Amino acid sequence: TRTAAVIPAAGRGVRLGPGAPKALRALNGTPMLIHAVRAMAASRAVSLVVVVAPPDGAPEVKNLLDTHALPERTDYRVVPGGETRQESVRLGLEALPDDITAVLVHDAARPLVPVDTVDAVVEAVRDGAVAVVPAVPLADTVKQVEPREKGEAEPVLATPDRATLRAVQTPQGFDRDTLVRAHATVTDNVTDDASMVEQLGEPVVVVPGHEEAFKVTRPLDLVLAEAVLARRRA
Ligand code: CTP
Ligand code: MG
Repeated sequence: TRTAAVIPAAGRGVRLGPGAPKALRALNGTPMLIHAVRAMAASRAVSLVVVVAPPDGAPEVKNLLDTHALPERTDYRVVPGGETRQESVRLGLEALPDDITAVLVHDAARPLVPVDTVDAVVEAVRDGAVAVVPAVPLADTVKQVEPREKGEAEPVLATPDRATLRAVQTPQGFDRDTLVRAHATVTDNVTDDASMVEQLGEPVVVVPGHEEAFKVTRPLDLVLAEAVLARRRA
């Protein structure tokens, strides 16, 4: 197996508020994207990282990667992204060399995933799983509702049993050919890559995720991410 990581980093970060594209925002002085690339490169299994940059930001991202230290063994490429996460991942997959047989897809917005989580996903793929997702149990009870306009009360339709639910993270790991086929076949809007593989009827398995693999989405997440980094350095 030769494993590459595709890092979609082309999003604007609307929920984070105005400013630079989310992946380029600094966490304790270093761009979020660099933390995410280092998190993938920390796994000895990952030999190549493909970063999917904001559509007009590929030269800037290439420059960031050239000027921040990465392990000697890690090769990297930068390609411009698309309108949706799905399209960005597909563009990243198109940039993979032929000898790559396993792919991790990792959100730039999850900069702090520990290497043990990355390695657990890689190992499950090497053991023969076609699709592997790290996930954690939910703290909150979840209600299915009938969506209404913002500010309006929403009728509850159902309360799924929390014990059977998982919050899904990245990196998600795949057999390369299966993921490429999923991206070529599935056209519905989805929020993760594994659900596209599910739609092919292929099995997807969950391995334990990690609380530090949370996604930086809203302003409070920046506070948490910087606190986690400060704790690591202490
Ligand atoms: N992403 C991407 N291309 C897009 C949209 C998103 O590569 N067209 C990436 C983001 O850069 C991020 C990951 O997909 O690393 C997860 O998406 P999300 O957390 O939703 O980031 P954004 O789309 O940037 O944020 P928002 O939805 O708040 O605008
Ligand atoms: Mg988004």
